[in-house]
Amino acid sequence: MTALTDASMTSRPGGPLRGRIGAPGDKSISHRALILGAMAHGTTEIEGLLEGDDVLATARAMRAFGVGVERLGEGRWRVTGSGALEEPAEIIDCGNSGTGARLIIGAAAGFALAASFTGDASLRERPMLRVLEPLGLMGARWICRNNGRLPLTLSGGGLHGVAYQLPQPSAQVKSAVLLAGLNAAGETSVIEPSPSRDHTERMLRAFGAEVGIEDGAAGRVITLAGGQRLAAAPVRVPGDPSSAAFPIVAALITPGSEITVEGVLLNRLRCGLFETLREMGADLGIDNEREQGGERVGDITARYSSLIGVVVPPERAPSMIDEYPVLAVAAAFAEGPTVMSGIGELRVKESDRIALIAAALAACGVAAHEQPEGLTVVGTSRANHPVRGGGAIATHGDHRIAMSCLVLGLAAREAVSVDYAEMIATSFPGFAVQMASLGADIDVG
Ligand code: S3P
Repeated sequence: MTALTDASMTSRPGGPLRGRIGAPGDKSISHRALILGAMAHGTTEIEGLLEGDDVLATARAMRAFGVGVERLGEGRWRVTGSGALEEPAEIIDCGNSGTGARLIIGAAAGFALAASFTGDASLRERPMLRVLEPLGLMGARWICRNNGRLPLTLSGGGLHGVAYQLPQPSAQVKSAVLLAGLNAAGETSVIEPSPSRDHTERMLRAFGAEVGIEDGAAGRVITLAGGQRLAAAPVRVPGDPSSAAFPIVAALITPGSEITVEGVLLNRLRCGLFETLREMGADLGIDNEREQGGERVGDITARYSSLIGVVVPPERAPSMIDEYPVLAVAAAFAEGPTVMSGIGELRVKESDRIALIAAALAACGVAAHEQPEGLTVVGTSRANHPVRGGGAIATHGDHRIAMSCLVLGLAAREAVSVDYAEMIATSFPGFAVQMASLGADIDVG
């Protein structure tokens, strides 16, 4: 797990960004490749795994559950599963990762074992009842701290299937219930009010499971029968659109820029940011679209653009939930207000992202107004009132707040610095190096 050392990072305004980079492996798919590989029979070879701290915590967790997990080379991993998780002798530390914690708790619940989970200071404050309650309905038992906070201990096995209506769209909760359902008696179904990322469903099918997906009156219904055997299958992890978002927005707001990010996942349940940026007038091109491991990927080219503020439809939130902080930065450079609503979930991510990005923008001279479940950013347009910048931003250890503010500093009038910059390695370990290769002036200190 990353030790917080309060290392700071600073970005300075400079010339245009130019060049091509590859996106780091998708974080959501990387976690799932390790977890499904662990639950499957046989050897799963993974290519392009994101070697960020969050995913490395999941790899360690799978080893603690008795699974063979080996690193073969850069991004190349081998997972050898026997179809079952064993009771771990140590406490499972999921680091900063809500996805890791919630998916592993769901997977473990299906087996007759006891396991204890913890995480870093941020993860220990995040809500876990959203997975514990449905798992309890299926027959799992648990005890936890402070109304569903980690550390917690789970006792699994002997589960029965349920039909569970998600109170809010959440791929993490959906996935936890489906992974538990794999080892429950009878059928498990999850009904989601609006579709969230579907990587678990796709990968379950790729591992040989039968998964039903239907659109019903109450939302999308995903169903699987318990007792299905997963067979190991190769996984090629596409580039993460949530990470590609940072260089892409940096190019859109820095005059003269033109960059390409190669091999980005184009799953439509993940592409809400790109749709929104286009509505704002962004010049985004997609080339070389292709299929890779059951997902659509492509190379995204972003050119500096005059942006205008927009109203982002709330129903788009699940497809861009992690991208609102960097969208808020793009909005700061647009003409007029950008209104984001239906984003209350941002308050229970790695930090309260609505509060932190609003405070960061204010520290950089941008008007941002918080609502309980929304955020409005009043852009000033680069031509008339260039964004001042100049803030020293408290990130509360949130990697996406850190990267968003560093992107802002590249196009503002004054440098921007962020604290706890080492947390960027949770999702985008090569961020500073990759940005520097495009010509960005970002350094430690
Ligand atoms: C994720 C789902 C989202 C997202 C997170 C990754 C996943 O969380 O914010 O970064 O991999 O399933 P929720 O499912 O809680 O919305």
